[in-house]
Amino acid sequence: MLTKVNSVANYGLKAVDVDVEVNVAERGFPGFGIVGLSSKSAEEAKERIKTALINSDVEFPTAKITVNLAPADLPKDGSGYDLPIAVGILASIGEINLPKEKSYFYGELSLDGSLRHTKGIFLLAVLAKEQGVKSIFVPRLCANEACVIEGIKVFPVDNLRSLIRHLKGDKPIEPLAFINTDDVLGDIHPDFDFSEVLGQEMAKRALEIAAAGGHNIFLMGPPGSGKTMLSRAIPGILPDLTERESLEVTKIFSITGNIPAGGSLVRHRPFRSPHHTTSMVGLIGGGSIPHPGEVSMAHRGVLFLDEFPEFGRNSLEALRQPLEDGNVTISRSAGSISFPAQFMLVAAANPCPCGFLGDLKKECKCNVHQILNYQKKLSGPIMDRIDLHLNVPAVDVNKLMLDSNKSQGETSATVKIRVRKAREIQRSRFDKISGVHCNADMKNSHLKDFAKLSTEANLFLKQAVNKFSLSARTYFRLIKVARTIADLAEAEVISDKHVAEALQYRVRSE
Ligand SMILES: Nc1ncnc2c1ncn2[C@@H]1O[C@H](COP(=O)(O)OP(=O)(O)OP(=O)(O)O)[C@@H](O)[C@H]1O
Ligand SMILES: [Mg+2]
Ligand SMILES: [Zn+2]
Repeated sequence: MLTKVNSVANYGLKAVDVDVEVNVAERGFPGFGIVGLSSKSAEEAKERIKTALINSDVEFPTAKITVNLAPADLPKDGSGYDLPIAVGILASIGEINLPKEKSYFYGELSLDGSLRHTKGIFLLAVLAKEQGVKSIFVPRLCANEACVIEGIKVFPVDNLRSLIRHLKGDKPIEPLAFINTDDVLGDIHPDFDFSEVLGQEMAKRALEIAAAGGHNIFLMGPPGSGKTMLSRAIPGILPDLTERESLEVTKIFSITGNIPAGGSLVRHRPFRSPHHTTSMVGLIGGGSIPHPGEVSMAHRGVLFLDEFPEFGRNSLEALRQPLEDGNVTISRSAGSISFPAQFMLVAAANPCPCGFLGDLKKECKCNVHQILNYQKKLSGPIMDRIDLHLNVPAVDVNKLMLDSNKSQGETSATVKIRVRKAREIQRSRFDKISGVHCNADMKNSHLKDFAKLSTEANLFLKQAVNKFSLSARTYFRLIKVARTIADLAEAEVISDKHVAEALQYRVRSE
């Protein structure tokens, strides 16, 4: 008997309809074949489905089972078809009745018949809403992802047994309640709070400016000076995601399987810190069925590249497109797919291979050749996109800790209030400019309208350009950073004081 079960395929950041046709024929040679799914996924799925059904006390039919996932030309991969195929077999052998109204089934099976965490449930829910599909059956572990979409019945499935009972009408599964997005709290637990970082006032201030204006920042300093610690404290001062941003991030987190069991909407800005050995595909995205890379997982948040010069030259080169366009485009025969990738880049490095070049206490052991080679890695297209260059000198933490007169520094929560205010100013400023969310996104042509300098600031800037022979690029970058400093001070016009501070973070190798 032939049965059709509705399911979905995730392509890029969109789910699309897939029909799972299952035919169980008494006649013919017994066997189990799946077409329309990548061959590796199909082989694995067959084993799981068969074993899961047997372990759920279903007599696996000795028949010719043919499964077709349509449309055939849509690339399909992954383990989510276990559930619709199993349901199709169960319906074909008369074990269950399919729901009367169109329903999506999607989820990976365990050998014992329970449902595992499966990627992309949020996207499935978005499609259900678009298509007017009223019921979806998904693993309980990730069912909450679907619950933030209003107007669909989300049936959380624990295992095949409970689903069989539900579809037989013996014991219904209770659909989950709608989760209001306002009730989902941002659950950020940064590794460090700003108040834990002793001293380093200039670095903390620079990070505040970077967070406030969305500026890319580079931290340079000797080993142990706190570069990694400072960077890892950034999530605590970033403004919360807006509702729209939250939906964008949730899509990416759902498709990459980064929403933890029971989680729903992502409310905190992502902080991604890929290791320098991460492959280019891992960093940028790709694969035969394209999946997002680290740059997209950092969308609306931070991409932290620690030990920056250790990253491969190709990987760094490939960062250029996302940094420039805010997205990644991957071309495939089935068409090209674009993943969003608007992130704040935070990079950290030592000044030389041994780490102590320019250090006041320790001597650098590198030769000129080593230093030049190393610094060559620190030039190029990525460095051109960095707004703030920061020197992080070593502080004597022991001394700071013993100094009882030193009052505790500000907490991340306090800094975040200022950052949030500065972002609000920028949001209303760029309200009508598409693609510009914060000062760092401004094109040079925007500066005339949005970054007005006082007479003194103008004069000061001219002097600085002459004195330090600043390039045009640095000049524009300086104004953008000064704009953010002025926003933090809630000043409409950029003053010479703001420009002077911005100048402290100017390109080191200018
Ligand atoms: N300013 C500071 N306040 C408090 N603790 C600090 C400070 N700086 C460094 N530390 C301590 O030193 C440890 C090492 O710092 P961290 O790993 O951030 O250094 P780093 O600059 O990244 O060094 P490397 O170049 O070797 O990667 C931190 O985990 C922290 O415990
Ligand atoms: Mg470090
Ligand atoms: Zn050195």
